[in-house]
Amino acid sequence: MSRPVFGITTPLYYTNGKPHIGHTYSTCIVDTLSRYHRQKGEEVWFITGADEHGQKIANTAKKHGKTPQAWCDEIVDYTRELWDLFGMTYDRYVRTTEPEHYKDVQQVVGLLKSKGDIFSGSYEGWYSVSEERFVPESEKETVEASNGTADLVWTSEETFYFRMSAYRQALIDLYTKEPERIRPESRRNEILARLQSDELRDLSITRTSIEWGIPLNDLAPGHVCYVWIDALLGYATATGYRTDQGEFDRIWPHIVHLIGKDILWFHTVIMPSVLLAAGIPLTTGVVAHGFWIKDDQKISKSKGNMIFVEPFIEEFGPDPFRYYLLRDSSLGSDGAFSDDAFIHRVNSDLANDLGNALHRSLSMLGRYREGIVPARPAVEGDPAVADLRALVARIVPASDEELEEFRLQSALELLWEVVRGINKYIDSRAPWALSKKGLDAELDQTLYDMLDALRLTAIALSPYIPNLAQAMWTQLGLEGKASDRPRSEAHTLGLLPAGTVTKIGEPIVPRIDEALYFERLSGGSPLVTTPESVPATSSAPSAAKKKTAGEKGEIQYDDFGKLDLRVAEVMTAERVEGADKLLKLSVSLGAEQRIIVSGIAEHYTPESLVGRKIVVLANLAPRKLRGVESQGMLLATTTAEGKVIVLSPEQDAPAGSPVS
Ligand code: MSP
Repeated sequence: MSRPVFGITTPLYYTNGKPHIGHTYSTCIVDTLSRYHRQKGEEVWFITGADEHGQKIANTAKKHGKTPQAWCDEIVDYTRELWDLFGMTYDRYVRTTEPEHYKDVQQVVGLLKSKGDIFSGSYEGWYSVSEERFVPESEKETVEASNGTADLVWTSEETFYFRMSAYRQALIDLYTKEPERIRPESRRNEILARLQSDELRDLSITRTSIEWGIPLNDLAPGHVCYVWIDALLGYATATGYRTDQGEFDRIWPHIVHLIGKDILWFHTVIMPSVLLAAGIPLTTGVVAHGFWIKDDQKISKSKGNMIFVEPFIEEFGPDPFRYYLLRDSSLGSDGAFSDDAFIHRVNSDLANDLGNALHRSLSMLGRYREGIVPARPAVEGDPAVADLRALVARIVPASDEELEEFRLQSALELLWEVVRGINKYIDSRAPWALSKKGLDAELDQTLYDMLDALRLTAIALSPYIPNLAQAMWTQLGLEGKASDRPRSEAHTLGLLPAGTVTKIGEPIVPRIDEALYFERLSGGSPLVTTPESVPATSSAPSAAKKKTAGEKGEIQYDDFGKLDLRVAEVMTAERVEGADKLLKLSVSLGAEQRIIVSGIAEHYTPESLVGRKIVVLANLAPRKLRGVESQGMLLATTTAEGKVIVLSPEQDAPAGSPVS
């Protein structure tokens, strides 16, 4: 029986700061799956939203001099604007501060209480503010090591408990009989092993010492419910629990939760126990992805090693970053973020393979047929024609099967076989040679096949990189939107109408200039930002759109004090092999020598720099550029004409002199 609805959720993100790479990753996966299932003609319910209560958020709001609600409103506005820039197609953005959600939580807590599954008690122990949960003594050390000692607060207060222990066996039975409820399999095994090896503790679900939560009124006077019970029921609010029973019954059982592995326990143990206790049907299950990591650590707010996505969007538009996230990590495993890998994906896959296939095809159509798609004569003989057809027939469905199973990386890998297949077809059919020989029918067939395969590729890729797919579609001269075409059209050759007038434009993905990338985006870097330097105020959302390279937020004296700026003398200078723009300088800082690689080779000859005094940032983390480690950065400015000028002290100053 086919399911009536494809329901899928992202986690409801905390509103203690603006979204970063991790949140973007989860949301891009869900958006891709939603777009794909819509193309298949299914009714899709894509739910995302905000988890707004708890001590952590109240503390952050206070730090910024705002009420929790005002703070959350700003973060939510910011997040939605960011998702708009990506073109995320969510159907429902749910907020845990919605009045209807309060009623939902109160209703469920009431149900649990009436069944005797909630009882009052007291709690004494450690509370992790960043994870918003009570931490048993056995986990104290691990939590401390990962979040710092200040994160754990000794707490002693009255609380209501949910009798979660009663559901241990039911959960073990559930995941034994229905293993596909937790994917990938390794995560199911992890949960099952934990349930089997340990008792399941009752869960403290209310607090009296914080106000920023959902009041439980007569159910538990003076207590608020927050975080887990509250947030997990956000999914129910989003599907009409209590407000539209018919819709809820229709949609809820078909919901899949896409989450990061950090919140697996909450979704696979706490949520189902609450649902079982309240007599609410279970959702379909959970798919857990790994983390984006940097320097072997999870990228997160608490670690202060965030990578924000706005600079990538500003420089390259949303799709290159989205493509990188989806293509460079396998769903179950962790992915290590690297600038080099990002540049490689964009230049090699998007600019070279995909962009070139489109641009050269359209150029040739322009040259040989005035940009108008010819009818396709069937000329047998060349195996390349059959090969392309066979490739499309085999690979596109295989890629879709991977996507159905949440393996987005291999789905994309397969689609790139098609992209490369198109380039191979062009090379092997060599339209320029067919034209020279006057083989008109063969030339028409070849031009048609190239463009038709690109049409199909644009449809196939539109869930993953919707904006680029649409740019392809438009240049191919096709009407409407690639993403509105039924998925079956991505499996079928021959649907490109003869007579289509194509509209060749700029290459859809410009190559990234490596030197410029590192100068503009990394190193110093707007990409990797400490929490303090991230503005998360009402002005932040528009800043995400309007910011240019020259506009930076205000900083404090302390921030400036972190920079070790010094006068340096250039001792030697040479070009970096294989990089037109890079110079390798060996500079003296008085007591020590440094190597600095800089993208100034088009503006300075190596000789002109030797002996010059310049200003360098000496305590910048080292970074490899084309295999050479750069141990600092020289300061330079760029004129309106694009000329780079290296800064020097106006009078002679000894190498090593501090600059302040
Ligand atoms: N509010 C809870 C979720 C409640 S769901 C009802 C929460 N929010 S969160 O803002 O911390 O977001 C956590 C989610 O963000 C993770 O599960 C994951 O989906 C995503 N990521 C955050 N950091 C991440 C990485 N470094 N890498 C990949 N995704 C991670 O937990």
